[in-house]
Amino acid sequence: MKSIILTLNDRAEGVTADGTRVPRALPGEEITLSKENQFKIVLPSKDRITPVCTHYKSCGGCSIQHVTQSFIKEWKSNVIKSCLSARGIETIIKPILTSEINSRRRVTLHGMKTKKSVTVGFFKKNTHELISTPSCELVDPEILSAFSLFEEITLLGATRKSIIEISVTVSKAGLDLNILNGKKLENQSIMKITALCENFNVARITWNEDLLANFLNPTIEFQGIAITPPPNAFLQATEEGQEILIENAMLSVFNSDKVIDLFSGCGTFTLPAAKRSEVLAIDKTKSMLSAIEQAWRETSGLKKVTSRSQDLFKEPIGKEELNSF
Ligand SMILES: C[S@@+](CC[C@H](N)C(=O)[O-])C[C@H]1O[C@@H](n2cnc3c(N)ncnc32)[C@H](O)[C@@H]1O
Repeated sequence: MKSIILTLNDRAEGVTADGTRVPRALPGEEITLSKENQFKIVLPSKDRITPVCTHYKSCGGCSIQHVTQSFIKEWKSNVIKSCLSARGIETIIKPILTSEINSRRRVTLHGMKTKKSVTVGFFKKNTHELISTPSCELVDPEILSAFSLFEEITLLGATRKSIIEISVTVSKAGLDLNILNGKKLENQSIMKITALCENFNVARITWNEDLLANFLNPTIEFQGIAITPPPNAFLQATEEGQEILIENAMLSVFNSDKVIDLFSGCGTFTLPAAKRSEVLAIDKTKSMLSAIEQAWRETSGLKKVTSRSQDLFKEPIGKEELNSF
């Protein structure tokens, strides 16, 4: 059956007139759809391009590599505009900036033992089928160069029945690894894994939330202020993106004596803002707030930073308190 794609929804799926969602189809494209929702392009969009990543066809990690950067920028801008206007907010949206390929410093991979070997990578879209993605074009080369380490860790630490989660962050001191769903390790496996990690420039590895080895503190910098995030903490996906966000956020608060940072995480905006202003950081995750406090203590010249653990959905900040910032 022939269909025309009318729009792209905010999950980057093409949508036909009858509301059928077709992942990876683009507005203006004429397609034929099979019963299994597989599509063939009859007439391609002028914005369609060949994806840079060789894994893109089967990998579910990325959803919009098949279209030009200028199309992506306009689409993202419109997603933000429509979210804001749904709440009656009209504003000017600055041009969208996108990160370079191979610049993502954080990623969660999965690892699985197969009969004869291991697979480490991402799931196929909407499945639990894992595919190996050693040439992913998205992530930092330091992560790619440790793929054989992730495979060894899977071999030693996954059972035949389970899939382990391997979260990796590139820090200034080396890789920060956080493994979840791993099996309980025998001493011998612990020794093998820690020895391998040391060879692969790993700064820290945690296993099922317990610290396995801390060779060096995995520090990250926010405008030159060093912080050691807790394992698997939220960080902006790329360092370049983080610095641009900080620069722009600081433009809004540079004139304020007191700043409140809601959903502060581990201080992406709190710590740079403290160069000029007193800051109250609020987040529900205590370990991230502890990391902010420690970084503040270890950095000279910052104004006072206080932090508060609070669930901001259950207990939003009242008008009276907000007015004091
Ligand atoms: C996307 S991160 C942003 C962190 C930081 N602003 C940054 O840019 O790096 C969102 C943060 O919100 C926090 N969070 C999520 N739900 C929350 C809630 N209900 N109340 C307070 N904090 C919450 C998380 O712990 C996380 O640190």
